[in-house]
Amino acid sequence: MAEKDWQPGECPLPGCLPATFWLLFLSGCAGEQSTYTAAGVEAASTLTLYYWLFACVIVVWLLLAGIFVYATRVRPKIHSEKGASIFVIVGGIVLPTLALTVIAIVGIILMTQHRGQEAVRDIRVTGEQYWWRFEYLDHEGKVIAETANEFALPVAEASRMHLITADVIHSFWVPALAGKVDMIPGRINELVLEPIRTGRYRGQCAEFCGASHALMGLVAKVKNSEDFQRWLSAQADDARPPATPLSVRGQQVFLQSGCGACHAVRGTPANGRLGPDLTHLASRDRIAAATFANDQDKIRRWLAHTGQIKPGVQMPTFDMLSDTELAALAAYLGDLQ
Ligand code: CUA
Repeated sequence: MAEKDWQPGECPLPGCLPATFWLLFLSGCAGEQSTYTAAGVEAASTLTLYYWLFACVIVVWLLLAGIFVYATRVRPKIHSEKGASIFVIVGGIVLPTLALTVIAIVGIILMTQHRGQEAVRDIRVTGEQYWWRFEYLDHEGKVIAETANEFALPVAEASRMHLITADVIHSFWVPALAGKVDMIPGRINELVLEPIRTGRYRGQCAEFCGASHALMGLVAKVKNSEDFQRWLSAQADDARPPATPLSVRGQQVFLQSGCGACHAVRGTPANGRLGPDLTHLASRDRIAAATFANDQDKIRRWLAHTGQIKPGVQMPTFDMLSDTELAALAAYLGDLQ
């Protein structure tokens, strides 16, 4: 195939215009794990800053594209040294300096709004390989309720998250609510979350922490004040006793197989602290750190294949249990409302 030389005035990238348009369309992507779905005060600031940055980029791009068209189409001739110098100074120094100054000013103004924010509630979040421990604290720092991988916040109230880690560096990130903050061994990092819209938002560990880092998700539920209080007092309660014969059998399997050495089900002899608190497992939307929908079939699959599903996970695979025992265990866990 004969190669065609690039001619002045011709777009050097075939299809570059459609690509730009697709990018614009893609920027409309939003969802429960997206910075475009700003449902928190800090996320809204970040989004505002992003739009300013985007506007500056568009202005610079349009001006430089205009200069490009002018130099190649309107007046495709050799320019004087002086004219070329002006292009370089305006395009290479003046425009970027102006754009970066605007962004810096907007950024500093938005940043000062979040300094020393007061919070009405303290929540300790611990990053673990590969799940999240959430502990709601009272004013004396005592734990009122504990949950895992799924937590709730009241809308229009600020909650202070105390971010720690049990092992390696993780990073707590719910894009719809705020920016990411690392959880570093030996440190307590703080992040104030103040949701502005009710809804369900997904988060994700944002720092590589081992083989199953990508499967370390979480769910944040923003509720109105009443629903939140109801949720919190339900989470603080002990587990209800199993109600069906299958669940009763499941509880026996749970206690006899040693599950309680790692997991707590408050109100039963199971009081392990190594793994997620399972007292109200069935109230959560997802299991295995937001990896699967929470239903009995998925619980059964998870119990029998932990290592294959989440490489490096500390929970052993319970494939020595018979199908009936697994079904009973899944029924018991699926009943822990
Ligand atoms: Cu925890 Cu990545």
